[in-house]
Amino acid sequence: MKFTDRLKGSEHPSVAIIGLGYVGLPLALEFVKGGCRVVGIDIDAEKPRMIGEGKSYLKTIPSERIAAAVKTGLIECTTEFSSMKDSDAIIICVPTPLGKSREPDLSYVISTGKEVSRYLQPGQLVVLESTTYPGTTREELVPILEESGLKAGEDFFVAFSPEREDPGNKEFYTRTIPKLVGALTPEGSDAANLVYSFAVDKVVVVSSPEVAEMAKITENTYRAVNIALVNELKVLASRMDVDIWEVIRAASTKPFGYTPFFPGPGLGGHCIPIDPFYLTWKARQFGMPTRFIELAGEINTAMPAFVVSIITKALNERQKSVNGSRILILGMAYKPDIDDIRETPALMVMDQLLELGADVDYNDPYVGSIGETRQTHHRPVSVELTENVLSGFDCVVIITNHSCYDYQWIVDNASLIIDTRNACAGLKGSEEKVVKA
Ligand SMILES: NC(=O)c1ccc[n+]([C@@H]2O[C@H](COP(=O)([O-])OP(=O)(O)OC[C@H]3O[C@@H](n4cnc5c(N)ncnc54)[C@H](O)[C@@H]3O)[C@@H](O)[C@H]2O)c1
Repeated sequence: MKFTDRLKGSEHPSVAIIGLGYVGLPLALEFVKGGCRVVGIDIDAEKPRMIGEGKSYLKTIPSERIAAAVKTGLIECTTEFSSMKDSDAIIICVPTPLGKSREPDLSYVISTGKEVSRYLQPGQLVVLESTTYPGTTREELVPILEESGLKAGEDFFVAFSPEREDPGNKEFYTRTIPKLVGALTPEGSDAANLVYSFAVDKVVVVSSPEVAEMAKITENTYRAVNIALVNELKVLASRMDVDIWEVIRAASTKPFGYTPFFPGPGLGGHCIPIDPFYLTWKARQFGMPTRFIELAGEINTAMPAFVVSIITKALNERQKSVNGSRILILGMAYKPDIDDIRETPALMVMDQLLELGADVDYNDPYVGSIGETRQTHHRPVSVELTENVLSGFDCVVIITNHSCYDYQWIVDNASLIIDTRNACAGLKGSEEKVVKA
């Protein structure tokens, strides 16, 4: 029986989701909402356990959403890979980081592929969602899956469908973000189109996995390059004593041909600082240097040092040195209103300040501790914010503009503020105390 006929006739189509992180967990919940039976699989036993108890481990997903999904009886989570055997579709959402030399690290995709290959059944659809360079699905994943003895495109279907999740985004979420799918065969496209229609409002079918893979990296490279451009303009504007934020506001009044991007202390997160380098690496195989992307990376990577230079200058103007100054970083997460500190520029600023001899603390309502990896730092936990605490620091640096901060209160109580997000613009007293960086 055809995959699509089988699914249409099924009361609860079944989906296995491998990797229950920022991407896999919301996707699993959306499939449950669409009436699918979901098996969630993760090697980290804590995640299936917490989901089973209706508890969340991500700030962006409330426990109530998980508890409601569990109550339907449609979701079960486990560390047991064999439980994917009865699923119509298997969706892989595991990490794709960079290795030590900034090369793609596909080890998670490969080890997951091996597990899938062990339990793969004829007629199943396998979809890779992890961001990666064009060619990964066909060249890396398919041969592993075919170790099962089954033939891709004939005995089972394979597709790539990039994840466009934006944790913390109040306007767009899993269901309302259109989903690209690119399969090896037209039957695979039909299968993937139908499966995702249970979880998202709009599925966009493209002609191949390579188009879908490259589309995702194009989206993120576009952001990385444009952010680099505005960061470079910020450094120049700062030297010229021009307010870059006002410049952007002014340029944004043009109703066509200009899309505003905003400067900051550097790139963070699991995607924008990393994904473009997957493409750069692949481009080398085609004898093509991707200078534009490399340059954007260079500029964005230099931003934490720029922030530190502004801090140094501002302290200097107050007859203070970085060495020995007490500095408080506000916002450790890489973007507002989330708890994710992967690749966060706040840690880079913190490291550089510590190296210069500053006494650094941080506050982040979402990041209670910066974890074992940061044990070199003597106080790796978020300090409580009070008027006395705030006024006790020589300098407060706003790295991430969480919306729960009361910026007027911060301006009222801090003696010097370095603002990398324009969070204090126009506030009473900001002219004397706030330096933009
Ligand atoms: N976080 C985002 O906002 C975002 C957005 C778009 C795309 N992506 C991409 O999605 C992919 C996943 O990212 P994420 O942010 O969800 O990562 P994550 O680290 O939050 O989650 C990955 C999960 O996979 C699990 N895992 C690792 N290896 C496994 C294995 N072999 N088998 C089963 N589970 C395994 C981990 O325990 C973890 O729970 C990455 O390729 C990323 O680039 C992420």
